[in-house]
Amino acid sequence: MTTDDLIHAADSALRTLFATPRSARPLPWVRAQDMAAPLTAEEKRLSGALMRVNHVGEVCAQALYTGQALGCKDPALRPLLNAACREETDHLAWTAERLAQLDDRPSLLNPLWYAGAFAMGLAASTLGGDRVSLGFVVETERQVEAHLDGHLNQLPANDLASRAIVQHMKTDEVAHARMAERAGAVALPLPVRGLMKLAAKVMTTVAHRV
Ligand SMILES: [Fe+2]
Ligand SMILES: [Fe+2]
Repeated sequence: MTTDDLIHAADSALRTLFATPRSARPLPWVRAQDMAAPLTAEEKRLSGALMRVNHVGEVCAQALYTGQALGCKDPALRPLLNAACREETDHLAWTAERLAQLDDRPSLLNPLWYAGAFAMGLAASTLGGDRVSLGFVVETERQVEAHLDGHLNQLPANDLASRAIVQHMKTDEVAHARMAERAGAVALPLPVRGLMKLAAKVMTTVAHRV
């Protein structure tokens, strides 16, 4: 772990928490007439709460991948983690933009979520090693995929803009899990997977409101 790595990690944290994220890929395409589909106040509130949860998930994704890249031992692995992290930056930008379109706000607890996820990512790679860290990516991305499927069921049927974003993110998360599998991930023990689910449940429940 070099000084450059530490500076990169600090820069990533500050950009995630305080800068306006920029996506390399445009917001998933939605036809103008679909964007205009009116949402009731109640639908808008629900979409806002769900997209805030997804935005928190993407804050955590930045933190996890940054922590894991920092503790990663194989130099060949770091570019793979960084490439996935760049796609997560698109997700962060898309969810932030959609939240603003819905006149809603990000979670007030984002610094806390970031710190917790960064510590988990760093611990997975420094304590577990690269293959365990990759197993952590696989399990995280699978849980996120299931979570996004749940949101596709919960989002208002006429909120096509949020749906397009969630669907596109889901496709990327599946690809991230495959990347980690191909790179040599080991399966995590059941209790660890259970703990990860519990942590995600706490985060999604709180972020729905705060
Ligand atoms: Fe993501
Ligand atoms: Fe991902």
